[in-house]
Amino acid sequence: MRRSLALLVLAGVIPIVALGGTFGALTLRSEREAVAARGRTDANLAAALVSQTLRSNVAAVEMVAQSPALDGAAPDVARFATLARRILANQQDWHAIVLADVEGRVVFGTAPVGTAAAPLAGLDAAALRRLRDRAEPQIGTFSVASDGARVFPVAVPVGRAGQVRYVIAALVPAARLERLLRVEPLAPGWTASIITPAGPALMVPRDAAPLVHTDPRPVELWMPVSGARWSIRITAPAQAFFAPVRQAVLLLLAAAALCVLLLALLGRLLVGELRQLRRRDASELQRQRMETLGRLTGGVAHDFNNLLTPIMISLEQLRRHAADAASTRHVDVAMAGAERARLLVSRLLAFSRQQQLSPEPVELAALVDGLMDLVEKSLTPAITMTVAVAPELCPAEADRGQLELAILNLVINARDAMPDSGALRLSVARAEPRHTAGLAAGHYVAITVSDTGSGMDAATIARAIDPFFTTKPIGKGTGLGLSMVDGFASQSGGAFVLESEPGRGTSARIVLPCSARPAVAAPLAAAAAGTSALTILLVDDDLRVRRATAEVLAEAGHAVTEAADVDEALALLATREPVDVVVTDFIMPGRSGAELIEQLRAAWPHVAVLMVTGHVEDDGALPDGVELLRKPYRGATLLAAVEQAVRQRGR
Ligand SMILES: Nc1ncnc2c1ncn2[C@@H]1O[C@H](COP(=O)(O)OP(=O)(O)OP(=O)(O)O)[C@@H](O)[C@H]1O
Ligand SMILES: [Mg+2]
Repeated sequence: MRRSLALLVLAGVIPIVALGGTFGALTLRSEREAVAARGRTDANLAAALVSQTLRSNVAAVEMVAQSPALDGAAPDVARFATLARRILANQQDWHAIVLADVEGRVVFGTAPVGTAAAPLAGLDAAALRRLRDRAEPQIGTFSVASDGARVFPVAVPVGRAGQVRYVIAALVPAARLERLLRVEPLAPGWTASIITPAGPALMVPRDAAPLVHTDPRPVELWMPVSGARWSIRITAPAQAFFAPVRQAVLLLLAAAALCVLLLALLGRLLVGELRQLRRRDASELQRQRMETLGRLTGGVAHDFNNLLTPIMISLEQLRRHAADAASTRHVDVAMAGAERARLLVSRLLAFSRQQQLSPEPVELAALVDGLMDLVEKSLTPAITMTVAVAPELCPAEADRGQLELAILNLVINARDAMPDSGALRLSVARAEPRHTAGLAAGHYVAITVSDTGSGMDAATIARAIDPFFTTKPIGKGTGLGLSMVDGFASQSGGAFVLESEPGRGTSARIVLPCSARPAVAAPLAAAAAGTSALTILLVDDDLRVRRATAEVLAEAGHAVTEAADVDEALALLATREPVDVVVTDFIMPGRSGAELIEQLRAAWPHVAVLMVTGHVEDDGALPDGVELLRKPYRGATLLAAVEQAVRQRGR
């Protein structure tokens, strides 16, 4: 179950993760492209603006180079100085104007350009050579002027008569270019730089951290500046394209987590359903198993009853006519064995829900009270007992004798579970049908026997009510106690509930339906009033049972006529002298005892009837108001039942 659940969740997670991965990768790519496109635009624009600026500066310096002060064999420095100062006064953008020879030595410089002897800063030998040889303007590299300003030279050749004679350079403050780099506001973390052959020369923002190549790599775009040997470099941090992707992936992960949660929830629900289904299947299987077992044991019990009846009756006869004490002892031993067998069979019948029950309204408080003596006797002194009976309970509809037996069975089980010491609690209370499986709607009462004994593990509890299941040593338990209790409770329209935990104790509850009738007091033992000799018609298809029964009746002084089936019985009734009592088996080949009783009631209503049953398939098939005797029976019980039938008819 746990594995299927994990597989279900995995089946849900894998597509989500795959989808998330693909989505993340695609978003990453498109974000990266968008960032690159913007960087490219910025770099283009900056490069265009810078090159435009450089061009106009070159044009301006070229104008200065036309000055006649430089026409002579030697420059007219004083005149040039005047011109330069005038230009600087108008051209605020320049930091200084410098006149140098073709070797770069400063001939004149407006203040504050370094010393006159120093070579023109920012123009290296190669640049000077290009300027001299190709008569090409040169944009120099950045340097710091004596007053601390960062400047770069825009140098043009001064040519006269086809020969370069001087160099004029305007030192342009770098701040001018900074403004151009910022023309498009940069997003946070982005930088724009001017890269000269000597390396990065200018970067905005000024305090930007130097570029570190992290993983994922930042985006970097380069654009050459025409007219100079510079490039514009725009960089965007990895964060620029990674942050939105991370956001998207986080969102997706959250969605995936939600999906997994939902799937897990769904899985749990499914597992719950399946478990319930399995439980239902298991309980249905258990019901079928019990039913089959019940039918089997019922059949066996029925046959045993038929076998036990002649055995018990004959033993009784034997005992009566026993010649000596030794024979009496032997017969007594045999009788005790037969009696044990009878008890066993009756428990089997109880389990198979086929025992003959005589339900009546039973006041449980009184019943428990009456049982106290017996219960206390069956417990050891180390067991403390409490009894709790709820007030104003309805009477239960049940067979009094069987109920007492059932309670005693539970008490003995509890005692056996507490060999050293413990507490037993016997309680009677109302029961809610919805708390117990298999109960129809209605009112119920429950008798609960709980103990603080050894308890049962799951395997034991699952089999506890199986007939012949016992954990007790051989000879100590038959394993029929709980089967009898369960069969009795179900046959009475109630239920039996067993709850237990190893080491914690057990609680066994018999739930019984409330009776609609008022309770009656426990019947007193039937007075064994001697009855005068009766004429009895005995109907039973089993010859051995019939013979043994007839013998008992005849011995008691009754006149007995035997019939093997209903037809024969009816024929005898019609032809012979009137009979006082008909003792009949219930199930016989051909017509049943019930049909015989029907005919009797119609034609001979004064005749008393005693029905003997060994196996009752269906309580409903039994005719009402007929005295019943359960097989196997002893002679005395048979005679008492005959007398009871006669008394009932006489009422
Ligand atoms: N109160 C209890 N505490 C612990 N285990 C119990 C309890 N009641 C029943 N059992 C277990 O269930 C088994 C079956 O009980 P059941 O009453 O059917 O037969 P038994 O007591 O073994 O024999 P018998 O009742 O015929 O003497 C017991 O052997 C025992 O293992
Ligand atoms: Mg028992």
